[in-house]
Amino acid sequence: MQAVIGADVVLGQVVERPMSEQAIRVKQQAETVDIVWPDGTQTSLPHLWLRDNCDCNDCRVEQTTEKKFMVTSVTVDIKPASTEYLDDTLRIVWPDGHATCYNGCDLHAFANEDTEWRSEWGAGYVPVGFDFQDFLNDDGAAASAIQEFVKSGAMVLKNAPQEPNTLEQLAPRLGPIREVLFERIHNVEVYADGYNVAHTPLPLPPHNDFASYSWPPSVQALHMLVNEVPGGESVVVDGWRVLSELRAARPDLFDVLCSTPVPFRMFDRDNETCTLEPLVRCDVDGHITGLRFSNQLMQAINPNRPGVAKFYRAYHELCKRVTDPSVKVSFRLGAGEILVVASHRVLHGRNAFQASGRRHLQDAYFEFDNVRNHLVLLRRKGLVQ
Ligand SMILES: [Fe+2]
Ligand SMILES: [Zn+2]
Repeated sequence: MQAVIGADVVLGQVVERPMSEQAIRVKQQAETVDIVWPDGTQTSLPHLWLRDNCDCNDCRVEQTTEKKFMVTSVTVDIKPASTEYLDDTLRIVWPDGHATCYNGCDLHAFANEDTEWRSEWGAGYVPVGFDFQDFLNDDGAAASAIQEFVKSGAMVLKNAPQEPNTLEQLAPRLGPIREVLFERIHNVEVYADGYNVAHTPLPLPPHNDFASYSWPPSVQALHMLVNEVPGGESVVVDGWRVLSELRAARPDLFDVLCSTPVPFRMFDRDNETCTLEPLVRCDVDGHITGLRFSNQLMQAINPNRPGVAKFYRAYHELCKRVTDPSVKVSFRLGAGEILVVASHRVLHGRNAFQASGRRHLQDAYFEFDNVRNHLVLLRRKGLVQ
């Protein structure tokens, strides 16, 4: 952004000295400094926010850029002694003579926060495929794959080795591995004493794993080593899309799903995990950030809790929508393919199969924050738009 104006500011008034047709207006209010940008957007900056975000070397740890300034070192009603916008910089002098400069572009960016980083999908979507070796060895290919994964919440890595513990190799790109109880790399095969319905040939309705943890793993990789059985197609569902549609149609039921704690439990002879959490989590702005859905691990809600009947209306509606054929994407995961899902968003499941041959899948878990970290590192190398 070019410097476009200098402004001499007095309380409640602005005196502009235009330097181009595109004027930036700066106005000092009783509790804020307000900036109106040439595109019409406005940024309102509370005085204490401005003082707290001084970037000078007195206010930061120079070596790390971490904040050193503590707001209690000034009064709660601090106001600028003078304010000036010149050369793309907002400059404030405080009553004690301390001066703070803010980059205009940085301030303007607050007015245009991007929330459109994800794209929703339904039937007709096919998870984008990437070559396993390219993903590991080529930064450009990894950047494309991780960008797609962050946007859609799913991808398939193809031509992977059909060797046990291949998922360990993904740690440099997605990891570290998020370990949970039971096994570090989980084996999913049919066996008689399995602790989960996944160890039978029964169908698995869409779900996310480890709903019994208060923070379930937020990324799951499912690696097919052997698939010699008829049936057993993989199923994925964009849970956030399902929830968006449910919220639009029945906001009352959506609120119940956000506010009713539900017990989940997963256990075997040696392990016991359980939690009590709502099925839906939103951030403070109302954006959906998590769906917890596992019919198989859900336990009985205390029926004496107020609102259980209403919860079951909401849960019935959610189950109907999650299992609706129009939102299910199904495909056969072949040997040597790895399905990766953002598991607080995308539910996975499978159709029933005939246990007439071998079918061996391995699961490993990661964290979405760490995946985004790898994207940032690739962006620093100039490999991400
Ligand atoms: Fe699962
Ligand atoms: Zn400072």
